[in-house]
Amino acid sequence: MIILKSKREIEYIRAAGRITANALVLMKKLAKPGITTGELDQRCEEYIRSCGAFPSCKGYYGYPATICASVNDEVVHGIPGRRKLKDGDIISVDLVVNKDGYHGDSTVTIPVGHVDAAVMQLIKVTEASLYKGIEQAVPGNYLGDIGHAVQAYAESFGYGVVRDYVGHGIGTDMHEDPEVPNYGLAGHGELLESGMVLAIEPMINMGTEKVVQNNKNGWTVVTRDGKPAAHFEHTIAITDNGPEILTLPDEE
Ligand code: MF3
Ligand code: CO
Repeated sequence: MIILKSKREIEYIRAAGRITANALVLMKKLAKPGITTGELDQRCEEYIRSCGAFPSCKGYYGYPATICASVNDEVVHGIPGRRKLKDGDIISVDLVVNKDGYHGDSTVTIPVGHVDAAVMQLIKVTEASLYKGIEQAVPGNYLGDIGHAVQAYAESFGYGVVRDYVGHGIGTDMHEDPEVPNYGLAGHGELLESGMVLAIEPMINMGTEKVVQNNKNGWTVVTRDGKPAAHFEHTIAITDNGPEILTLPDEE
């Protein structure tokens, strides 16, 4: 069941989303060669607690950290730890913040130092595909319009659109209905209405869309071909004035 949100509830989600976005700005500043993903996680948790907010993922089905830190061929759910970032890496930082019982969810893929031009293009196209999806999030459109727009754009560059993980509704729960795939048929699926709040999150692979979760920690998902993956996400509200991004920072 899709829970529609009032204007007041959307402001609560926006307040959570602002902390999420500010924390990701901090992550962009800190993600330099030599820092470990564990240090990024610690700095992120300190920042959001200083805002009177909480890391939504920590403890979620036993997840041990504040951020998901997915490096290079890691698609999602990379667990922060002793891994040191090095020049040429890319890192996707996925963060959900709980402020006053409402969640804000956003992800950015950050280049570390000097990154190969082809990989920079993957990052740029993945971010642009998110905005293609957001553009479709208007009352009267269908859920399939969002996925179709993301997929058509990403596939026009020959990239693989991950099927096994999808976006979601969000509010007082981190994951609510509906599922928001990054692929689909225009004009199909749930009718979009004012008051829906969605986390749209394309995960785009340089090569095959196939992913595997075959490592010992039970979480981290990697591309099957070992090629890099990028991931961008915003929490957005569907309003009569069109889509509104709720995970924007105070300043970049
Ligand atoms: N941010 C992820 C999402 O968009 C959730 C990861 S939190 C974890 O669904 F606990 F599941 F790792
Ligand atoms: Co999400």
